[in-house]
Amino acid sequence: MSDAAQLMDRMYRRQRHIYDLSRKFYLLGRDEAIAGLRARPGDRVLEIGCGTGRNLIKLARTYPQARLYGLDVSQEMLASAAAALARAELAPRIALAQGDATAFDPEALFGQAQFERVMISYALSMIPPWRDALAQALDVLAPGGSLHLVDFGAGVGLPGSFRTGLRRWLAAFDVTPRDELGQALAALSAERGLTCEIESRFRGYAFLAVARRGA
Ligand SMILES: C[S@@+](CC[C@H](N)C(=O)[O-])C[C@H]1O[C@@H](n2cnc3c(N)ncnc32)[C@H](O)[C@@H]1O
Repeated sequence: MSDAAQLMDRMYRRQRHIYDLSRKFYLLGRDEAIAGLRARPGDRVLEIGCGTGRNLIKLARTYPQARLYGLDVSQEMLASAAAALARAELAPRIALAQGDATAFDPEALFGQAQFERVMISYALSMIPPWRDALAQALDVLAPGGSLHLVDFGAGVGLPGSFRTGLRRWLAAFDVTPRDELGQALAALSAERGLTCEIESRFRGYAFLAVARRGA
């Protein structure tokens, strides 16, 4: 098992049972990101770092004709996701696979080389080589496809003491807001001939970003 898988399994072995209830209050912007996907019937939609499957279930209900795929490095989180999908009677519609966001083979895992929509929600802040994960996500976009990101922002509009406290608290969960994400996304997108945009939310608490590949 890789270091990333071991770390995430250790972190989520117990937390996964209270994950959805507790994270609801601070993983902000996820539903806006889901609405922004605008997946079309038949589109292949991949969530990288899908965790407990919370977003996959919302995606399945928002885009009933899309084909859905979820990847996570943690078997513990995937066990929670599989149970949640079964409870929601969505298991047959959503394929789950274990893999590392920084280097995965979508063809081997899902039988798909590319996806029309890719989403990464609050996972880049937990992946130390997050630039590699970003590059890999851009590289699996189909022509006309888009990558949708939501995560903790730099918090520049937040009161200083709140920002400092928030960062300390996040660090206790191995979460690091990626302050250079905007520049990295712009550079990686430009290298690939893609366009991108990034928007701040909740005074910089979170950001939403989209990169688009031309048709
Ligand atoms: C904070 S959770 C977010 C889960 C979900 N995307 C959401 O919005 O509720 C981060 C997820 O990223 C996963 N993760 C962390 N490092 C990863 C990696 N290198 N590759 C794939 N997934 C990873 C964790 O196991 C965890 O399930």
